[in-house]
Amino acid sequence: MYAFSPDADLSPRERHAELRVAALAITDGEADSIANMANVAALIWQYLPGLNWAGFYRMVDGELVLGPFIGKPACIRIPLGRGVCGTAAASGETQLVADVHAFPGHIACDADSRSELVVPVLHDGQVIAVIDLDSPEPARFTPDDAEGLEALAQAIAARIG
Ligand code: SME
Repeated sequence: MYAFSPDADLSPRERHAELRVAALAITDGEADSIANMANVAALIWQYLPGLNWAGFYRMVDGELVLGPFIGKPACIRIPLGRGVCGTAAASGETQLVADVHAFPGHIACDADSRSELVVPVLHDGQVIAVIDLDSPEPARFTPDDAEGLEALAQAIAARIG
């Protein structure tokens, strides 16, 4: 049994730091990328409040393909440049979207989603996946969340590649 859980009363930055430590611990010594993405998605869900979807899309043959996640069933394939995930993957840049309805081409997988954060995972200079977080709260995500998720993506990149 793994007993990872965030301490109460953590600031968002501290929460992200603990999430990163937990993610590195749970993936330590494990070579299976799907298992590692599944556990990291579960940890994100556990450590970050206010989410309705958290998980991975993987870069496969030039498009994004659904990976391990927590939340409602989601669209399976996303072309590069489409939606928030495809934009993050094509540009290699984090997408922090306060209002998904205002994002041109946003792909609605769960009608409850109001805000979204997508962070590319780079390994050896290539985007190998994105981490996608959705929230039913408008403007749920802050620059601290973006920074925390980017640090997480960097920390685990070699273990999901
Ligand atoms: N909203 C995303 C699609 C993935 S779901 O949110 C899980 C997008 O526009 O790329």
